[in-house]
Amino acid sequence: MRHWTLLGEAAIPDTDQSLLLYRGKDDFFIRISGGLELMSSRKHASESALGSLPCKRLRQPEAAKVLIGGLGMGFTLAAVLELVGAKAEVTVAELIPGVVDWNRGPLGERSGRPLDDPRTRVHLGDVAKLLRQSHNCFDVIALDVDNGPDGLTKRANDWLYSMPGIAAAQDALSPMGILAYWSANPDQAFHDRLRRCGFMVEEVTVFAHGRKGARHTIWIAQN
Ligand SMILES: C[S@@+](CC[C@H](N)C(=O)[O-])C[C@H]1O[C@@H](n2cnc3c(N)ncnc32)[C@H](O)[C@@H]1O
Repeated sequence: MRHWTLLGEAAIPDTDQSLLLYRGKDDFFIRISGGLELMSSRKHASESALGSLPCKRLRQPEAAKVLIGGLGMGFTLAAVLELVGAKAEVTVAELIPGVVDWNRGPLGERSGRPLDDPRTRVHLGDVAKLLRQSHNCFDVIALDVDNGPDGLTKRANDWLYSMPGIAAAQDALSPMGILAYWSANPDQAFHDRLRRCGFMVEEVTVFAHGRKGARHTIWIAQN
């Protein structure tokens, strides 16, 4: 951390914590106040896979409607935009306005400035609230708001991984829709909850970077 420069700090609503954006020699890092690293721009293969794995399964990508929960550094959003067509609408729900500002600033270069794409819509607010209000409208929902079912950022995010949260996401999907979740770790209980909601579930393990080191889990759930 000695060579890191603090670029910004943004409060996490309804908590006493904040997200901190740092720039290192070649990369950006987002940490949670208190020291835990949320993500780095160097290791983003699994965040990109969260966008590409479900979108590769789309039957009609041309005008797909996609919801992404958590902008972070924009890698999931960029991966989705690569695979959907010119008439697609990609909504990214982000809780923390500062994170959107960071992506509109220097951080956005890393992911190719996906917020500038005309197909992108930013929804400032809790993705859980948006899911509760949405019925039968998204062809893909890709959720990476936290560390996974075992959350770090915001206790209230646990709801997204509960039976009622999964059911709300299911209700927000179009009939052939695909639901994808990112997690730092495998979680059999969460996998079982997806199945109990009636989904066919594929669990994919993806390296965070390159072909060795940390691996992350992505669940792809389809009706
Ligand atoms: C790990 S990052 C997402 C990384 C992203 N997949 C990427 O490609 O860079 C998690 C993001 O979710 C946001 N977030 C946390 N809880 C949220 C919620 N309930 N609704 C919307 N965004 C949330 C955080 O502020 C953070 O920007």
